Amino acid sequence: MKKIAVVGTGYVGLVTGTCFAETGNQVICVDIDTKKVERMRNGEVPIYEPHLDVLFERNIKANRLRFTTDLQEGIKDAEIIFLALPTPPGEDGSADLSYILGVSEQIGKLITDYKVIVDKSTVPVGTAEKVHATIAQNATCDFDVVSNPEFLREGFAVDDFMKPDRVVIGTQSDRAKKVMGELYQPFVRQGNPILFMDEKSAELTKYAANSFLATKITFMNEIANFCELVGADVDKVRIGIGSDDRIGKRFLFPGIGYGGSCFPKDVQALVKSGKEENFEFQILTAVMKVNEEQKTVLFPKMQNFFRGNLSGKKIAVWGLAFKPDTDDIREAPSLYMIKELLKAGASVTAYDPEAMPNVKQLLGESIQFATNEYEALHDADALLICTEWSVFRNPDFDQVGAVMRDKVIFDGRNLFDMETMNKHGFYYQSIGRGI
Ligand code: UGA
Repeated sequence: MKKIAVVGTGYVGLVTGTCFAETGNQVICVDIDTKKVERMRNGEVPIYEPHLDVLFERNIKANRLRFTTDLQEGIKDAEIIFLALPTPPGEDGSADLSYILGVSEQIGKLITDYKVIVDKSTVPVGTAEKVHATIAQNATCDFDVVSNPEFLREGFAVDDFMKPDRVVIGTQSDRAKKVMGELYQPFVRQGNPILFMDEKSAELTKYAANSFLATKITFMNEIANFCELVGADVDKVRIGIGSDDRIGKRFLFPGIGYGGSCFPKDVQALVKSGKEENFEFQILTAVMKVNEEQKTVLFPKMQNFFRGNLSGKKIAVWGLAFKPDTDDIREAPSLYMIKELLKAGASVTAYDPEAMPNVKQLLGESIQFATNEYEALHDADALLICTEWSVFRNPDFDQVGAVMRDKVIFDGRNLFDMETMNKHGFYYQSIGRGI
């Protein structure tokens, strides 16, 4: 059992704190947001993440998971302090470290015995060094700073945390290595490795992993766009190349671009870090450009279909979140498409199982929201699919066709096979598969 403080109860902090409590540690989460802390003390999980609620409740009840707004109280007894603070992109795309360094400064003033301070947030190479220097300005005791990036996917965060493919720990201190190794032992029992490395390599591993995955998706999106020109089927090509172990089947699904709070921000931040060293990430620069274009790749197709006149057309949108199983709409392709549709004079009625409140906050009355996927289709001239929620995968096509004004589907996530669409008499355009 270890005593742990987690500073910052955003997505990463909350999952980290809860999962460490679940493995028997004493965890105290610190956040400056008084209202949020109050809600969490009452057992309310402030984010939507499958399976988190059960663990959250169980560990609060067992008194292994507590919350405070007081940093001093939070870190007093902790041997390990996780920093899970936001690193939003600054205006120039570089990660803003002011939260992390601000808390580091306070930690330096507060600690009185040995602590391991862990960067859990995604931070540019060299941040551990900066955090160390900031704490050292005031600290009067020994401490180590470790880089321990997280590889959680939204929607699968609990599972990813509990059964990681690997745990990356960046530190050159034997003392910190021992503490972190003991902490993570219960999570790597399946034989997956804890990879010890230096701080900078750990920091870069995180950016390189996300950038590689973003590149893999983007590559497939370009292949899909080319498939359409030459009459090939991207699904066949995807399986054809993915069967090669060296390429792998995962993250090869074409669509209307990657979004979320991680890939866009991390690719941009890595490119920016390169610039600071007079180094140009040529591939990643192209990835960013292609992905921007991919978000609206269906729009010209819709325009073509309606002969350049979308004005007054009623478009149903299925899916608003940047991907299924989350309410997160950051950099969601749906928002880019909706913006184009509204600009062209179309009206939009959307349905998403979780993300509607967030979109409502952002777009207000400019679009309508439906209470289920069929209601969104009423009198629609076309359906646009932006997120592959499971509930959209196997609809009653007779009902879909009956409630729509016209049987037209633009599918940004390739949910349906062409044969089914033909059989049911739909005009169906997807990504990389012809019409
Ligand atoms: C991503 C990484 O997968 C995690 O490993 C990482 O820890 C996390 O970022 C982070 O840095 O915190 P996440 O952003 O939650 O996780 O979502 P993903 O499941 O990776 O999806 C990202 C985007 O790629 C989504 O927009 C998704 O629709 C898109 N995508 C994914 C595709 O277009 N095609 C695919 O084949 C896979």
